[in-house]
Amino acid sequence: MDKQLEKLIKKIYQQKFPKKKFVPGQTYIPASGKVFNDKELYYLVQACLDGWWTEGRFNAKFEQKLAEKLGVNFCMTTNSGSSANLLALSALTSLRLKERRLKPGDEVITCAAGFPTTINPIIQHQLTPVFVDVNLTTLAVNIVDLEKAITKKTRAIFIAHTLGNPFNLNQVVRLAKKHRLWLIEDNCDALGAKYQNKYTGTFGDLATLSFYPAHHITMGEGGAVLTNNPLLTKIVHSIRDWGRDCWCRTGQDNTCGCRFSMQLGKLPFGYDHKYIYSEIGYNLKITDMQAALGLAQLGKLDRFIKIRQQNFDYLYSKLAELKDYFIFPQAEKHSEPSWFGFPLTLKPNLKFKRHELLQFLEANKIGTRLVFGGNITKQPYFVNYKINYRQVGKLANTDTIMNNSFWLGIYPGISKTMLNYVIATLNKFLEKHG
Ligand SMILES: Cc1ncc(COP(=O)(O)O)c(C=O)c1O
Repeated sequence: MDKQLEKLIKKIYQQKFPKKKFVPGQTYIPASGKVFNDKELYYLVQACLDGWWTEGRFNAKFEQKLAEKLGVNFCMTTNSGSSANLLALSALTSLRLKERRLKPGDEVITCAAGFPTTINPIIQHQLTPVFVDVNLTTLAVNIVDLEKAITKKTRAIFIAHTLGNPFNLNQVVRLAKKHRLWLIEDNCDALGAKYQNKYTGTFGDLATLSFYPAHHITMGEGGAVLTNNPLLTKIVHSIRDWGRDCWCRTGQDNTCGCRFSMQLGKLPFGYDHKYIYSEIGYNLKITDMQAALGLAQLGKLDRFIKIRQQNFDYLYSKLAELKDYFIFPQAEKHSEPSWFGFPLTLKPNLKFKRHELLQFLEANKIGTRLVFGGNITKQPYFVNYKINYRQVGKLANTDTIMNNSFWLGIYPGISKTMLNYVIATLNKFLEKHG
């Protein structure tokens, strides 16, 4: 049955998703996207045919394999990178952490040049985000400003390895240890990146991943929280699974052996442990179909990262001569980035504006993206909701990124022929406007 099914799915895949010829100027080149074949479809159908559907055998295997790959003790899947960020930060507010728990009014250091859902959990928990600037070539946190930002109120650092380029983990971990701060790595853009030969996402108390289709591997929607800490694992599981006190996995019962013989809160003795809630929880679990998709993708991760790196290097070598126009990306020292995109920042005083260049590329079927929210403090929700925050210095580089940066695609679906077209089109624009 399995072999028959596999064969049939391969045939359907070939019919439904035939290889498309790239026609320059006609075929759209997206900045990001998913790459898959019949293997993903076969795993998905197997998960459907299991008839289980909520997290199950595929999820267990995915979590185990990813944890092993990264060299981290615990990997917990969740339904998005944003949920992973919410879970990681929420875990640090748990009563189980006693005097180390985050409380309203505590400060969390982060960057304004980034994605909103790194910051929103901080706001949600009535903590104060403290913004520090980033470096223009690495897009990573500025360590001098980070150190300046630390006060008596500071309790945590929550920052991203933006576009797959690790931040200076030596210094960030040193400062976190020195000042007894929690560290969350938003590793959503950086699966597979290494710092001093160790995977990012394994340095902090907690780290997060996204499996949205733009990311290194996809589940359609999905994410994960990573940690080496058993207590944080218990808290994250609980918050992810409705806030329940019970630690049985989906479909299990009474693994504690005292399901009907506990007394917690003001509930009566013997209240079913399955319905006892000790955290303020949600349901942020994934389905086993998502996990099946992720498992098929995980087997391709190393190849995907390699192609991204090759595409990055190729663009770098061919665009380097445009240094009068652009500030180029630079890998953080001691790191091997797992590039998410190829960032470029327009130099000052050019004869054209960023939006003119991006419109030209779009009109020529080349997709681009900005460095997410630019300066988050200038976003309408920040302004209109009058969100309380503190910032260190003027965030001048963050504003430059908001005004002048963008990134080009390098995902594994982009071929050398496509990159040649991107390079030629960029040069064409500069000949006209440069
Ligand atoms: C740095 C960063 N954090 C978090 C997220 C959120 O991930 P998701 O889209 O899976 O919610 C993203 C999304 O791209 C991201 O780039």
